[in-house]
Amino acid sequence: MPGSAAIPWNAMKPISLTRYLIEEQHAGRINADLRLLIEVVARACKSISIAIGKGALGGVLGDAGTGNIQGEAQKKLDVLSNDILLEANAWGGHLAGLASEEMDHSQPIPDAARRGNYLLLFDPLDGSSNIDVNISVGTIFSVLRCPDGVTTPGDEHFLQPGTTQVCAGYTTYGPSTMLVLTVGHGTHVFTLDREVGTFMMTRRDVQVPADTKEFAVNMSNQRFWEPPMQRYVADLLKGKEGPRGKDFNMRWVASMVADVHRIITRGGIFSYPLDEKCREKGGKLRLMYEANPMAFIIEQAGGAASTGRQRMLEVQPTGLHQRVPVFLGSRNEVAEAVRYHEQFDREG
Ligand code: AHG
Ligand code: MN
Ligand code: MN
Repeated sequence: MPGSAAIPWNAMKPISLTRYLIEEQHAGRINADLRLLIEVVARACKSISIAIGKGALGGVLGDAGTGNIQGEAQKKLDVLSNDILLEANAWGGHLAGLASEEMDHSQPIPDAARRGNYLLLFDPLDGSSNIDVNISVGTIFSVLRCPDGVTTPGDEHFLQPGTTQVCAGYTTYGPSTMLVLTVGHGTHVFTLDREVGTFMMTRRDVQVPADTKEFAVNMSNQRFWEPPMQRYVADLLKGKEGPRGKDFNMRWVASMVADVHRIITRGGIFSYPLDEKCREKGGKLRLMYEANPMAFIIEQAGGAASTGRQRMLEVQPTGLHQRVPVFLGSRNEVAEAVRYHEQFDREG
């Protein structure tokens, strides 16, 4: 029609996860197998979201009566979420193997199924102590390449530093279900349209503010922390009158996904430091399916992630369920926390 401006076909409404992934494929940033893998994980997360949403009516709350390799009691939803992710990913042809918080060892894709070139690691349900009180929980996942020439991967083939991740993501099952994803080209947020059943992009290229006045830590562990952590938090608590010259607020959901999502949204620092209770294990949070995927997502959003002494993504893993201390979020605040560790290691 003369005079009428054409509607820009790509600017009408938020794009779906499917369209985002196809555009990434067309731009040569991911291949068809990785696209399918992400779609399958997202579909499994939708099923988990539905199971969680039913709550007490679905009979899914409470303990499973079993434990995992880490000595933690499993909730029914830990087991269910793990099963959903396993079932969804076993037959797609995009994976060579899977590993999970809830399984002692990794599992190669069975001989009968077609095998692909990727390895998938996941925390099927993070923050599961919060399920029974209706507080946000989530799923965390990380994708690695299966080393060349390996057709039946074992645990050792998963032990790659976080810098080699090709994709990482998490979902939060909260007031809305959200998927936060990176394939190494920025971090993007998708919100599940529950009626349609589609993840829609609601924030592209998230940037975590470099500075913050908010910190997240389980303060009940204070007396067990190392001296640099004691000093760092003591200085935060001194507020305007202290060396930091500003008042800090504290938040702790006790679901890493929810705490990290707050940081993705408005900045902050999340920490689970070394303490006397977890020193022997190396920390509380797991490197391969908690710290590394979150570190990749946060770095892709302009933030930083460290063990306090090393960039998280450069840690050489030694075990599938290895634990590490974690500091991640606003980059200048993470640098501050690292500075306290450096000073302690130098001067005591
Ligand atoms: P998970 O439920 O997968 O075992 O992980 C729980 C983790 C993490 O989500 C959270 O940040 C932390 O444990 C909470 O620890 P505290 O209970 O010590 O606060
Ligand atoms: Mn977890
Ligand atoms: Mn878990």
